[in-house]
Amino acid sequence: MNELNHQLPSYPAMLMPLIVRNLLEQYGKGKDTVLLDPYVGAGTTLVEAQLYGAKQAIGIDLNPLAVLISKSKTTKYDLEKLNKQIRHFRDNTNQINYHVDIQDNEFFNFSIRDFWFKEKKCN
Ligand SMILES: C[S@@+](CC[C@H](N)C(=O)[O-])C[C@H]1O[C@@H](n2cnc3c(N)ncnc32)[C@H](O)[C@@H]1O
Repeated sequence: MNELNHQLPSYPAMLMPLIVRNLLEQYGKGKDTVLLDPYVGAGTTLVEAQLYGAKQAIGIDLNPLAVLISKSKTTKYDLEKLNKQIRHFRDNTNQINYHVDIQDNEFFNFSIRDFWFKEKKCN
């Protein structure tokens, strides 16, 4: 089951949403549910907890990319503001040349990065 934003972006070892959903239905406490996922990954459990109507869902991960993905999936966006920001970004970035050096950027360097993300070789 890959509905909603579960596969955006893809992340290694994601839980199947249906399993989380069934567990919440079986063990959740309705609107009083507070859920902690200490290995949040791409946030599958948090997204399902929101859909379930949990009071609170908290995620932790040592991978900053996982935290970023989970935040982006569980933040409630004001679509009007978001579209305005996208237009602003598009209007102001087409002339900028930028380069991110992944090797030297602390955001991309965390202890088990190479375990989760294999280097892609381009032909
Ligand atoms: C299998 S994924 C989690 C899947 C997630 N629970 C879901 O709902 O799809 C495992 C995650 O655990 C994180 N992780 C591994 N060791 C950790 C640790 N000691 N503390 C926090 N996060 C850790 C990894 O970075 C990875 O993102």
